[in-house]
Amino acid sequence: MSEQRLQKLMARAGVASRRRSEELIAAGRVTVNGEVVTSLGTKADPDRDAVAVDGRALELGVAHAYFALNKPRGCVTTMSDPQGRPTIARFLPPLPPGLFAVGRLDMDTEGLLLITNDGELAARLLHPRYHVPKTYRAVVAGRPSDAELARLRRGIELDDGPTQPAEVEALGPRDDRTEARITIREGRKRQVRRMFSAIGHPVTELERTAFGPIELGDQPRGALRELTEHEVTALKEVARS
Ligand code: URA
Repeated sequence: MSEQRLQKLMARAGVASRRRSEELIAAGRVTVNGEVVTSLGTKADPDRDAVAVDGRALELGVAHAYFALNKPRGCVTTMSDPQGRPTIARFLPPLPPGLFAVGRLDMDTEGLLLITNDGELAARLLHPRYHVPKTYRAVVAGRPSDAELARLRRGIELDDGPTQPAEVEALGPRDDRTEARITIREGRKRQVRRMFSAIGHPVTELERTAFGPIELGDQPRGALRELTEHEVTALKEVARS
């Protein structure tokens, strides 16, 4: 790779936004091959030069990529499926190799799926220790009572143990069903579906609308978009140790 400005390399390595990286350089916290640099015009070659911030070496060689897919229902969250079912791969244009989805959505769940080749960040985002919130819009059978929703808020016993407290709100009726918003900070298998089934109101539609600071917004179903630098920084921020 050719030489590039330090702040660009730092932003790409996930240190901080370019602007914040410039501040770190100006503050004398960045070294190139062991020498402190404070000039914002400084360039480095990610393949040859060693860049460190506060003494911590940056991984510069790998260009990480971050995308949001609005997954349609009816496809599995893998790049290829031995059983031949439709996969999310059909919605992805040719992309750099090594990309994978951060966690899974069920075949029948739609909505926000993060796609990246940044294994370290993905592992952190999925690790229970960071309690990254995931928000879903669920359409459920019948009319859950306040008392039933309160059970979900407190935490409910599932066959793999109790759930942590959740935020749940009924948004309104949908024929004989009810639309609800639920935010959980865990990621167990079919968790939202199992939670609503446990209070007697099975889910009939499920869409993930947010993952940590990233929102689905009005992104069309099946569309892929690259996350902005600001969004990537925010994502790293929620999973910082
Ligand atoms: N909870 C579910 O039940 N399904 C999903 O796909 C995600 C969360």
